[in-house]
Amino acid sequence: MSPILNITGATKRFHTPDGKSVTALDDVSLRVEQNEFVTLLGPSGCGKTTLLRAISGFEGLESGAIEIAGSPVTHLPAHKRPVNTVFQNYALFPHMTIAKNIAYSLDVADTPKKEISERVGKMLDIVGLAGFGDRKINQLSGGQRQRVALARSLIAQPKILLLDEPLSALDKNLRHKMQQELKSLQAEFGIAFVFVTHDQEEALTMSDRIVVLSDGKIQQHGTPEDLYRRPKTEFVARFVGESNLFEGHVVEASSQNALVQIGNGQKVSINKSGLREGVKVKLLARPEDLSVGHNADREGLKFKAKIDQLFFVGADYQILATTHDGLAIKATLRPSAQSRDPIGSPRSEIEFFIDKEALHVIAAEAVHE
Ligand SMILES: Nc1ncnc2c1ncn2[C@@H]1O[C@H](COP(=O)(O)OP(=O)(O)OP(=O)(O)O)[C@@H](O)[C@H]1O
Ligand SMILES: [Mg+2]
Repeated sequence: MSPILNITGATKRFHTPDGKSVTALDDVSLRVEQNEFVTLLGPSGCGKTTLLRAISGFEGLESGAIEIAGSPVTHLPAHKRPVNTVFQNYALFPHMTIAKNIAYSLDVADTPKKEISERVGKMLDIVGLAGFGDRKINQLSGGQRQRVALARSLIAQPKILLLDEPLSALDKNLRHKMQQELKSLQAEFGIAFVFVTHDQEEALTMSDRIVVLSDGKIQQHGTPEDLYRRPKTEFVARFVGESNLFEGHVVEASSQNALVQIGNGQKVSINKSGLREGVKVKLLARPEDLSVGHNADREGLKFKAKIDQLFFVGADYQILATTHDGLAIKATLRPSAQSRDPIGSPRSEIEFFIDKEALHVIAAEAVHE
């Protein structure tokens, strides 16, 4: 099956009033499959909105090409592209009622009145605004406006829906409800979603695939598990999830394994090919990869540390600690079902163990100095 969206080599530069040039998109290539939920994740200013605007046709490209459902659209104006956008700032019509806002694209397409009223009613229900149809936009809260914007875009059943931080104004409960709602709407309508968020947790829970952008470039894309377990760069490791990163270098390398020595002198053999002797690496361990006490049967890294802070967060303890040689450690520990004793207390000593199988190597060229 051909992808619903195929972007190749998209590059976009902006010229600022002081004569400088900003590369908002730098040779971005991306395929989105039909019915896929793809999330663009990255820090402010990395090019997320620009990429959405390029897909929807509100922004032209310096170079590169965009195809939707197999047809080139690079030179098509926005209103001719089978795409709808939920903008970061909603862009609703303030003088129209909510029902009129939602019905807008159907009105323009001369859809029969009865069908419009049925579909608008259904959308109002879906976004939790039943009974609000006759209100004006300026009589709504920010979160309610956001839901009107969503309903207005979904009602036209576009092939691709672009969503620019559509849930950012909602409180936590409503945000979770809308996350689930969006996922089921997407499955129901069979629309591909390109979704923008700052929130890595939202990206991990909602996406089939996450694209991490920085400075207008794709750093890495993959499933949430890929990015969490196998980040290629330190930037991605730090941006997706919490991390412990240990600096080291390869002291011995064979075709299958690398023996890595970290800063405090400990050595650990890692199952990874393609690393050369002498190269600098970082070893990544996620907080939940740490356990307490050393398991003598297993090979790995161990650290004696002092607990700085300890938070009880329901099932788990979150611990911030400093090793004897000054490394900051983040650990998420779950007490065993047999022992519900507290895991430690601030200022107490603790010994952490990380199984070598849990360590992920980030190679030198990808390490940001
Ligand atoms: N019209 C414009 N003129 C000049 N520079 C622009 C213009 N629009 C965007 N930029 C610049 O392009 C870069 C990318 O902007 P963009 O809006 O795509 O970022 P973003 O990832 O959506 O950020 P945020 O998360 O803050 O919304 C930024 O450096 C921004 O300042
Ligand atoms: Mg933006």
